[in-house]
Amino acid sequence: MTEHPLLIVVLAAGKGVRMRSAIPKVLHGIAGRSMLAHVLAIAHSAGAAKLALVVAPGMEAVRAEAAKAAPGIDIFEQETQAGTGHAVLSARPALERHRGDVIVLFADTPLVEPATLRRLIATLDGGAHIAALGFEAPDVNGYGRLIVDPDGRVQAIREDRDATEAERRIGLCNAGAMGFRVPDLAGLLGRIGNRNAKNEYYLTDVVELAAADGLVTRQVACAAEEALGVNSREQLAAAEAVFQGRARRRAMEQGATLVAPETVWLSFDTVIGRDVIIEPNVFLGPGVVVEEGAHIMANCHMVGAHIGKGARVGPFARFRPGTDIGERARIGNFVEVKNARLEAGAKANHLSYIGDGRVGEGANIGAGTIFCNYDGFNKHFTDVGKGAFVGSNSSLVAPVRIGDGAYIGSGSVISKDVAPDALALERSAQEQRPGWAAKFRTLMGRRKKSA
Ligand code: UD1
Ligand code: MG
Repeated sequence: MTEHPLLIVVLAAGKGVRMRSAIPKVLHGIAGRSMLAHVLAIAHSAGAAKLALVVAPGMEAVRAEAAKAAPGIDIFEQETQAGTGHAVLSARPALERHRGDVIVLFADTPLVEPATLRRLIATLDGGAHIAALGFEAPDVNGYGRLIVDPDGRVQAIREDRDATEAERRIGLCNAGAMGFRVPDLAGLLGRIGNRNAKNEYYLTDVVELAAADGLVTRQVACAAEEALGVNSREQLAAAEAVFQGRARRRAMEQGATLVAPETVWLSFDTVIGRDVIIEPNVFLGPGVVVEEGAHIMANCHMVGAHIGKGARVGPFARFRPGTDIGERARIGNFVEVKNARLEAGAKANHLSYIGDGRVGEGANIGAGTIFCNYDGFNKHFTDVGKGAFVGSNSSLVAPVRIGDGAYIGSGSVISKDVAPDALALERSAQEQRPGWAAKFRTLMGRRKKSA
């Protein structure tokens, strides 16, 4: 490790034309984070001591995303998109500064496992100068083919468009990731030409040059799903499906029940505890933690929410960022929570909006209660004390405090603080006219007949 510190160069300058998008390809998301951030996280877990990124001119958003995901990353600009080999050379200062191994990754290949990259390094440790990642593609279209000799050395990588008929029949494809332990990688890359179908400088051509120099060029096999390269929206969806499959399997392996796993959508950072039950059609966006034994009923949508142990939520609950549901709390159908904490055992079982507030331990929020948190300019806080009871269809106009154990009569509009254990009622007195309905029916019935 210290003997061969690792530099990982990530290529992201490609135009990504096949995405048909105004957004750079590598900023498209999988499970709630960009492909670029996924690849940088993989590079980090694979043990990179140094990271470099190659972008095209004008890709400010890509630079910003990289700096956020991997502070300290070295960013280089590739002036013209003249191919993957040319792109790696754009990071020449990083290559020349570095003494150790180099791995090149494509930012559009976000499913490679860090363990696979460690196998590339192990292959370099085993004496290879170059190790290319290969896979048996179910659909070889568009991938470069690995031409391997009987000794298992990779003689060349041939791009799809430049391959002969016989080469096209090869099923072993280039996944994109490549490891190098050569004395002068920049020098080797400088010898690549561009006489090919795309007139580009292909990174893949270093293999043939190196093999001709007598260097050892090996391949490391990986699963086809790891090699999935995203060039189109369809491939983006395929990559998402692979990621979701992995995340669901991991959640189940760790002891959660997903009743219909294929209908539960997870994010890159979702944390699910033991004995959690998740019913069908649940969307967990970024920043969700579900603690042990919680039960999420069907059709819930949450982003940035913490669900405490043994809590029960849904069906049809919506949690926005800053939601904190305490242990054994209950949230029922059509309840929206945002930036609010419900303490242990609190309940909001039906049709409520709880925004910018706290609901104390064991308090009950009746059906149709609205936290009126916004005055058109600012957001304000609502505090409901421990054991308070808020009657149905109440409006709590923030800023407002309901004391511990207080009682709010149904239908009240509460805009002043309520003392602990008091009853607050805001409602006009009920009028009652005995016999009115019966008289009304008789009168109307007569009128209808005579008409
Ligand atoms: C590339 C490989 C192919 C492999 C496939 C795996 C080459 C020549 N071909 O093809 O063998 O099977 O990936 O998915 O390497 N990029 C730049 N600058 C450029 C061109 C590309 O930074 O000038 C970046 C892209 O942003 C992308 C990556 O390099 O992240 C790969 O480029 P792409 O155009 O997607 O190559 P493929 O045709 O997929
Ligand atoms: Mg590609």
